Amino acid sequence: MSRYKISNLEEYFKEYKKSIKDPKKFWDKIASENFTWYQEWDKVVDFNMAEAEIKWFVDAKVNITKNCIDRHLAKKGDKVAIVFEPNNPDEASQSITYNELHQRVSKMANVLLSQGIKKGDRVCIYLPMIPELAITTLACARIGAIHSVVFAGFSASAVAARINDSECKMVITSDGGYRGNKTIDLKGIVDEALVNCPSVENVLVVQRTQTDVKMKEGRDHWLAPLLEKASDNNTAEIMDAEDPLFILYTSGSTGKPKGMVHTTAGYMVYTAYTFQNVFNYEENDIFWCTADIGWITGHSYILYGPLLNGATTVIFEGVPSYPDFSRFWQIIEKHKVNQFYTAPTAIRALAKESLDYVQKYPLSSLKVIGSVGEPINEEAWHWYNDHVGGKRCPVVDTWWQTETGGILISPIPFITPTKPTYATLPLPGIQAVLMDEKRNEIEDNQVVGSLCIKFPWPGIARTIWGDHQRYKDTYFSTFPGKYFSGDGALRDEVGYYRITGRVDDVIIVSGHNLGTAPIEDAINEHPAVAESAIVGFPHDIKGNALYGFVILKETGEKRDKENLAKEINQHISDHIGPIAKLDKIQFVSGLPKTRSGKIMRRILRKIAEGDYSNFGDTSTLLNPEIVEEIKEGKL
Ligand code: WT7
Repeated sequence: MSRYKISNLEEYFKEYKKSIKDPKKFWDKIASENFTWYQEWDKVVDFNMAEAEIKWFVDAKVNITKNCIDRHLAKKGDKVAIVFEPNNPDEASQSITYNELHQRVSKMANVLLSQGIKKGDRVCIYLPMIPELAITTLACARIGAIHSVVFAGFSASAVAARINDSECKMVITSDGGYRGNKTIDLKGIVDEALVNCPSVENVLVVQRTQTDVKMKEGRDHWLAPLLEKASDNNTAEIMDAEDPLFILYTSGSTGKPKGMVHTTAGYMVYTAYTFQNVFNYEENDIFWCTADIGWITGHSYILYGPLLNGATTVIFEGVPSYPDFSRFWQIIEKHKVNQFYTAPTAIRALAKESLDYVQKYPLSSLKVIGSVGEPINEEAWHWYNDHVGGKRCPVVDTWWQTETGGILISPIPFITPTKPTYATLPLPGIQAVLMDEKRNEIEDNQVVGSLCIKFPWPGIARTIWGDHQRYKDTYFSTFPGKYFSGDGALRDEVGYYRITGRVDDVIIVSGHNLGTAPIEDAINEHPAVAESAIVGFPHDIKGNALYGFVILKETGEKRDKENLAKEINQHISDHIGPIAKLDKIQFVSGLPKTRSGKIMRRILRKIAEGDYSNFGDTSTLLNPEIVEEIKEGKL
């Protein structure tokens, strides 16, 4: 994969200018020099930002798994592609070579075909972080089935909603999953979800925990015997550049989750290019991203980016705190990890523990350390830089989103001087701009604006599954002609960007993107609840935590508020998943509303933060007296 041949910031600016002056030439070269195509493109890019229609490498033909696996076989078939580190450190780790990966993905692809899965069918994958998660995902891509990986921490109803939205024909799951000292009953959750999923014909079940599960006759099949019978000879499907590769759901500020659709060639080119350059990956390096493959970070930088580069990628099944807080550092030492990529929430949680955990290990293999998912605060940045990177390793604070497919703003190691809390500079090819409320571009420094991108890049999502209008409305209508990220940012005098956070009703909790609307919907379904509003408030480890203001129905009865709060959280857990539980629940008699009936969240946010200094303009409030009441009852 092409590596930046630049050695300092000045050269970066030159390269960046070139990439913007002639983006077609820039991407054409990267795409033609680094991949195997059945057929090259007629046009590099074709787009209409107003209609949110974007195509890259028009009419090219390709299969991403040929590029992830087959083309490496001649030279590095025996190289390790995947290192699997189990939840329990006493269980042996596994190494899967490119040859083995080829064989296992081919067999799995043949199993999918034998179960009637065809190109274009949607397959839901609900698995823990085990090798089968990577293998089944790649097998879908091999035959052109569209994978929809659902994070194995989501509840049955969240799984059902995702399956139904894209009408998946198959679900791949396991008997159970290990997470720290817990065993999670994944098959039971799938069974519960499938009561309401008419599109699903078959369920394939991986054995992981040996849990006793119910197998539904005619629908459920153990995967192992099917794989045993399958041939390891599979011809990859020829895909059009713009055929969907996968759907991945992300929360929005309103309504149901958005099924972001990523297509084949652009996503391939973009993840491969950014992986190589943002992590400065060198042959024989061991790369470890601690995310779950159920999120975009895992799709792009555990699976596709590394494998496209013929890298060795680590898949870790467990959690940073089990059996103790040294688990991450112990794994880095054990596998001699060279690039480590994690989230600020994990860094903060580990920084809170004794330094002994991290100092026990020299961590001298590390070369580059990365952060993603939310703004990294200064203290966490320094702790990471000092104690993990030993002040030798550039910290790459990478800004991007499910929608962007890959990293857009990040330092390039050994080229871009880092600056705590700044994601620094847009990568070549990325035309970032800040917009003010009047929809003008902000030229000044140190002014917060809405972060937009004004030219498409290959990895951008193409649509929301089944709802192109929503895609257009959400990302391309606020600032016409531009992609709007939903994030606020400011820029310093060098041009470095600092991401300040969401400007909409999405709250990032422990790096998880949570929309307020689905959580409020879940709370409101509790029979005792009349109405609710959720806001975020700063939290030392999670970044943000959730604060819920809840109005109960008038029944005249006395109720146990503590129990109610527990029930409400259980409701959220059942509808969405434990990640969306509220830290604080305050029962109120009303919510501050404007005359048009909109909740003034700004005020609730201030109260939750404990900042009563300035509520701003409250003259449009219908019920200003409620503000005082809520303030008094603050938790
Ligand atoms: C949102 C996207 C793709 C990364 C995993 C999360 C926030 C992400 C950073 C960063 C500040 C960040 C943004 C973004 N975010 N990276 N380096 N600095 N904020 O993907 O779930 O789609 O969430 O995460 O608010 O919009 P996601």
